[in-house]
Amino acid sequence: LQHLITLEGLSREILQGILDTAEPFAEVAEREVKKVPLLRGKSVFNLFFENSTRTRTTFEIAAKRLSADVINLNINTSSASKGESLLDTVDNLAAMQADMFVVRHASSGAPYLIAQHLAATGREHIHVVNAGDGRHAHPTQGLLDMYTIRHYKKDFTRLTVAVVGDVLHSRVARSQIHALRTLGVPEIRVIAPRTLLPSGVADMGVRVFQDMKEGLKGVDVVMMLRLQNERMQGALLPSPQEYFKYYGLTPDKLRLAKPDAIVMHPGPMNRGIEIDSAVADGSHSVILPQVTFGIAVRMAVMSMLAGS
Ligand code: CP
Repeated sequence: LQHLITLEGLSREILQGILDTAEPFAEVAEREVKKVPLLRGKSVFNLFFENSTRTRTTFEIAAKRLSADVINLNINTSSASKGESLLDTVDNLAAMQADMFVVRHASSGAPYLIAQHLAATGREHIHVVNAGDGRHAHPTQGLLDMYTIRHYKKDFTRLTVAVVGDVLHSRVARSQIHALRTLGVPEIRVIAPRTLLPSGVADMGVRVFQDMKEGLKGVDVVMMLRLQNERMQGALLPSPQEYFKYYGLTPDKLRLAKPDAIVMHPGPMNRGIEIDSAVADGSHSVILPQVTFGIAVRMAVMSMLAGS
């Protein structure tokens, strides 16, 4: 791997290789000595043109645990706020001897554009990791979600997994569905109102449900999605109260899933809209372990791209 832009098209072996590489890093994270020298002498630039709590922080922790130098560009106080273009920003940071750009951007395709630009200008040795671009992809979220499922459920090939909510605007859902398919999950369900389903969703190899109670019957894993209010742009939506009534995950609805089902959410959560606090904080929830596993998975990705 040179860059990680999307999970689409990556083989099962590559995905499993990343998850396997993350396993010992999860153990490193639990031990007292937390650092390994795999990225010593390398500079990782976090370029978050969109806000983040989990992804930016866990990338920083992961890079530091790999002994990299980490530079967090504050976009609001950078010269991007004076109108400097994305590629001029990249060129200037590359001139500071960057080894890796971790990029989040509201525009789908921005990390790909950067990778293309680096290749076209002879700097393809600088790695690009997509930390979420528009509606397109959030590959490390998809990977940490797969790590979480494997941790609790072991065998992908026996599972029924439901992805619930705002699939239309969700880069997380796209990465999850690509990864679930590649890893051999036999039944992937998508549960959403018609207005929050992308056209052609059935071509993604999923079963589509608009009735949440039907869709949740007998599932092993419930992957909730955030309502992406910042990307709605006039979409015809139910009110928050209606949405919660039909698509909010409550203890009653969760009882339709298998008794040992796990509940996931990429965060940030809209409590009381897509998920009831009793579920988010309940015994089926693995939402906080997802965040912790994100460190090990991001260590795996960065060390596989740039590790010595
Ligand atoms: N899951 C996720 O991308 O969260 P952040 O927006 O806080 O990074």
